[in-house]
Amino acid sequence: MIAKETVDKILETARIEEVVGDFVNLKRRGTSLIGNCPFHNEKTPSFNVSVNKGIFKCFGCGEGGDSASFIMKHEKYSYPEALRYLAKKYNIEIEEIEQSPEQQEADNRRESLYIVSAYAAKFFSETMWETDQGKTIGLGYFKERGFRDDIIKKFELGYSPDSWDALTDKALREGFKEEFLEKTGLTIRNDKGKLYDRFRGRVMFPIHNFTGRIIGFGGRTLVTDKKVPKYVNSPESDIYHKSNVLYGLFQAKKAIRDLDNCYLVEGYADVLSVQQAGIENVVASSGTSLTTEQIRLIGRFAKNVTILYDGDAAGIKASLRGLDMILEEGLNVKVVLFPDGHDPDSYVQKLGSSEFKTYIEKNQRDFILYKTNILLKDAGTDPIKKAGVIHEVVESIAKIPDSIKASVFIRECSSLLQIEERVLIAELNRLRLGKMKKDGGKSESLPPPDAYPDDLPPPDEVLFAEEKYTETDDLQEKEIIRLLLNYGHELVKWDGITDTYIAPYVISNLADVVFDNPVCKIVLEEYNAYMEKGELPTAQDFIQHKDPQVSEMAISLISSPYSLSDNWLATRKIYVKHESENMRATILGGIFHLKKRKVDKILKSIREEIQNETDEDNQLILMQRYMRVKEVEKGISAFMGSVVIK
Ligand code: UTP
Ligand code: MN
Repeated sequence: MIAKETVDKILETARIEEVVGDFVNLKRRGTSLIGNCPFHNEKTPSFNVSVNKGIFKCFGCGEGGDSASFIMKHEKYSYPEALRYLAKKYNIEIEEIEQSPEQQEADNRRESLYIVSAYAAKFFSETMWETDQGKTIGLGYFKERGFRDDIIKKFELGYSPDSWDALTDKALREGFKEEFLEKTGLTIRNDKGKLYDRFRGRVMFPIHNFTGRIIGFGGRTLVTDKKVPKYVNSPESDIYHKSNVLYGLFQAKKAIRDLDNCYLVEGYADVLSVQQAGIENVVASSGTSLTTEQIRLIGRFAKNVTILYDGDAAGIKASLRGLDMILEEGLNVKVVLFPDGHDPDSYVQKLGSSEFKTYIEKNQRDFILYKTNILLKDAGTDPIKKAGVIHEVVESIAKIPDSIKASVFIRECSSLLQIEERVLIAELNRLRLGKMKKDGGKSESLPPPDAYPDDLPPPDEVLFAEEKYTETDDLQEKEIIRLLLNYGHELVKWDGITDTYIAPYVISNLADVVFDNPVCKIVLEEYNAYMEKGELPTAQDFIQHKDPQVSEMAISLISSPYSLSDNWLATRKIYVKHESENMRATILGGIFHLKKRKVDKILKSIREEIQNETDEDNQLILMQRYMRVKEVEKGISAFMGSVVIK
C-alpha cells in the first residue's frame, strides 16, 4: 500500500491543469480552463478546470473531482493505480507499506496484465537487439525497410523468436502466472492443455494506450506465403480494446494537439515511416475500419483530421461513407491520395521528408468537395445518377453539427454541382428534419427547429449557460443581468467621446423588451427604481438581497464562467480576447443577442398566425407586420454579422 505521506505529496504536487491537459485540449477562458468533456460526448466545451481549486467539473454531465479522481475515471484506474500514475508523472518516489496478499491481488489484476505486456515487449526488444537471430532477421528486416534506430526504439519494436514457447517458457520460469499470459493472449493453450506462444518468428509492434502503457501487440510475418496471415494481433483483453485504440497515439498526441491536426493512416508501417520523416502527428486505425470511439479519441486532441490513403480507387469509394462519421463528431476532414500502388509508408520513403510534406500540402482536399468531385465524375451526364450524387453530398453535409460550416459547404457544392443553393438547402433541411424525428425530436447536436431559428445560433452558448437549452430566452436574459451586475458601474465611450455608465445604456436600449424570467425582471425593476432616483445599485445590493431567489441568481451570475463563446464572437465577427477588453462589443453583443431572440419569437408567432388565419385581408395585414418585424431582424442580424440562410 502507498504510504499516507506519499499520497499527500502526490496530491500536493499534481497540478490539475497538467493532469487533465494530458488528455483534454484545454483553452483558457477567463479564470478557468475549458475543453471538451472526455466523459460524455460533446462538440462544444462544457468541461471546466479550476486551477486555483485544483478541480475539474463538467457542466454537461456533472462529472467532477480532483487530479486523482480524474485519472481514475478517465483511465478506469483504481485509486492506488491513479496515485501510481501521478507519482510516475511527477517523479515522486513511492513509499510502500505492507498490504495483505489478497488485497494486493485484487488491486493488481489489471496491473498484472500491463506488467506482463511490458515484460513481453522487453523480451521482444531484447531478442531483436541482442540475439543473433533477432539481429539478422528482425532488426535486419526493419533496416531493410529503411527504419532508423531512433524510430525502432521510439516505438519499442522487437522480434519474437521462431520458437513455440520461448516467451511463455521464460515468463513462467521468472514467476509470471499462466493466467495473465493467457489473458493478454501472449500465450495460447491448445486442446491438449499445452501452452505455446502466439507470436513466433515475427517482427513485433507493441501497441500503447495513450498514456504509454503497452496493452497489446501486432506481429508481422517475414515470409511471403499467402497461407500465413500477414499480421497476427493480440486478442481483446481487459486492458486492450481494439475499437478504442489508435496505433501511435501515445507518440503522436503532443504533436497532434500542438498542430491541431491528426494524420490518419492505415498501417503500422505507415505510422513509423511518417514519424521518421519528422511528421509526428500521425496515427493508424490498424486495418480495422474506423470506430466512433477512435474518432472521439482524436477529437480530444485536435479538431482536424487528414486521411492519408493509398491510391486504390475501389478502397477510396468504399471508405467515403465511413468518413461521414468523422464529420458527425464535428471534426474537419481532409483527404490526401497517393499515386497508385503507393501507401504513405512507401511514398514518404521514396520522396523523403520535405518533398512528402509539400506533396501533402499540395494534394490535401477537403473531404466533402473531394467526395463531390469523385461522385460527379462517376455519374457523368446521367441525370438520375446526378440526383443521387446531390443526395449523397448533402447527406454528408447534414452530418456537420456546426450549421455555419455546413452553410459554407452548401455554397461551395452548389457551384460544383451546378445546382441552386436553395435546392441543396431544401434537401439539407429535409434530412435534418428526418434525423430529428428519428431522434425523437431530441438531437444532441441540433436543438429543435423552433428553438433554433434561421440564423443558427451556435450551440456553444447552450453549454456555457451551465444548463440545458430551453424554449425561453433565459440564457440571453441572464446574460444581460450578468453584464449589469459585473460591469454596470463601468464607464464606456459609446460614441468614442463621452463616458457613459454601462447600466443605464443597457437598460434604455432594452426598454422595448419584455423579460420572461421573473427573477431577471425583479433585478431590472430595481435598476429602474434606482435610476429614477439618479443612482445605480451595486452587485452587493443583489447578492445580499432579501429575496433568496435574487441573491442566488446574483451569486451564480457573478461567479459563473457564463460568457459569450469564442464561436459566437467569431461568427459575428466580434473579436474579443476577453470580454472586458472590448467592453463595447461585449455589451452590444449581449443586447443584440437578446433582441434577436425576442424578434425571432415574434416572427414565429406571426408566422403561426398567418397559417391559422383564413381571412385573406387579415392575412395581408399579418404579412405586412411580418415584413416590418423582419426588417428589424435583418438590422440586428446585420449587426451581429450572422449568416441568415433563407
Ligand atoms: P497493410 O497490409 O497495409 O499493412 O495493412 P502495412 O502496415 O502497410 O504493412 P507492410 O507495409 O506490408 O509491412 C494495414 C494494417 O492492417 C492491419 C495491420 O494493422 C496493418 O498495419 N492488418 C493487415 C492486420 O491486422 N492483419 C492483416 O493480415 C493485414
Ligand atoms: Mn505498407
